[in-house]
Amino acid sequence: MDGTPARPRIEPPKVAVATAPLSVLETVRKARRNVLEIVPELAFRQPMLTGVTVARWHMVMDPDSLERILKDRVEDYPKSPVTKRLLRPAIGESLFIAEGAHWRWQRRAAAPVFAHRHLVALSPFMTAAAERSAARIGEEMAAKGGVEAYAQMIAATFDVICDVALSGKDTLDRPAVSRAIDEYMETVGKVSLLDVLAVPTWVPRPATLFRRRSSDLRPLMDRVIAARRNEPAREDLLDLMRFAEDPESGRKMTPEELRDNMLAFIVAGHETTALALAWALWLLAIDPATQERAREEARAAIGSGPAEAAHLPSLGYVGQVLEEAMRLYPPAAFLARIAKAEDRLCGRPIMGGDILMLPIYALHRHRMLWEDADAFDPERFAPAAARGRHRYQYLPFGAGPRICIGMGFALMEAKLILATLLARWRFVPGGPPPEPAMTLTLRPSGGVRLRAEPII
Ligand code: HEM
Repeated sequence: MDGTPARPRIEPPKVAVATAPLSVLETVRKARRNVLEIVPELAFRQPMLTGVTVARWHMVMDPDSLERILKDRVEDYPKSPVTKRLLRPAIGESLFIAEGAHWRWQRRAAAPVFAHRHLVALSPFMTAAAERSAARIGEEMAAKGGVEAYAQMIAATFDVICDVALSGKDTLDRPAVSRAIDEYMETVGKVSLLDVLAVPTWVPRPATLFRRRSSDLRPLMDRVIAARRNEPAREDLLDLMRFAEDPESGRKMTPEELRDNMLAFIVAGHETTALALAWALWLLAIDPATQERAREEARAAIGSGPAEAAHLPSLGYVGQVLEEAMRLYPPAAFLARIAKAEDRLCGRPIMGGDILMLPIYALHRHRMLWEDADAFDPERFAPAAARGRHRYQYLPFGAGPRICIGMGFALMEAKLILATLLARWRFVPGGPPPEPAMTLTLRPSGGVRLRAEPII
């Protein structure tokens, strides 16, 4: 024993889950507000639940069954066709949506783009964004006496997107792009969930609204791609994708395929990374001892910063904090599939057409899988503690062949930003706890209100 006082137990905000069965109308009402409210309390204690709302559905929390759905029989459990139909106007037949051969060649072409050496080459953009974010936090503190950390993190990851995917802010109308992305996300979020749940088509959906608005971002991306044709090659995500080819067929992306995939990266990667960071900052604000430990590590590695890719091997604990934040608040808290063929999961029959809900939020707080599941404790991700855990009990990035292609990118970006901020600022709560509310992603409703004190 080193005489350090025991760290108090920290239980951050959680979703008020359903304790009684819900009617169809209640399900619709709750799903609109916060889809996690339809996850029954039993989902945190049972390996699998089955029911009928409109179609037959199963909620799967059993790691072996998740492995079967996401890896062993991935072809038999495609993404929900209705969700895909609605996302298609925004991100086309991109990697995110495509299935079968069209998915495979795009994935083969794009995979090397996210290789570690390319991420290292992209990392100076992340370092610069981290540095600017630390400065903006100071400005907001000076102007308002507090910071809204979710908006701050959206601004930080937006900087990265602009630089790596949209040719840099200098050539862009930054507020217009930022607005277009916001609207894009808002409408993508609204359309998908009712459809995942196979709620009847008479329930009004804002899909037409989505089609109209989503036109904003596509021409912009088209213009960026067209302008690139006459420019010298640079090493950013757009150029890496521009020259990417399927090693098997030699096929390259058409300008439309390139556009749809770049937009898919923005939809899938921008807000999710900001959310991981915003929740991590809240958790650290309510747990000063953990924050101090993460700061000591960051300061030892980077001094007053900013953090660079070369520092990453020395930022293990900062990484653990992010992993634990994504366990408690997985940005993609709810995945869905549809069964194409008959199967058995947890000994129960699965029929073609059944809806498979994969509530990652419940998996990550499951009583049979995690000790004291609702408590914040980054020690769970210490290398020794994580060893021996079922690979499919922790799925912030999914798993199997369709695992998030941007995982390495997101983790690098988040670590560089978090380490840089911790080296400069001490965060304390500056408002009420945020409420976890899921539309398409798990957002902090009410914002993440903090105060930032300079580190001297
Ligand atoms: C913390 C940040 C992120 C989280 C939590 C996250 C989460 C996920 C999850 C759970 C999936 C699997 C979805 C499913 O199986 O239904 C996924 C897929 C995907 N993600 Fe991410 N993501 C993040 C960042 C990014 C970034 C930065 C990019 C791009 C630069 C990205 C691009 C994609 C793409 C293209 C797919 C589809 C891959 C395929 O189906 O082959 N994501 N992501």
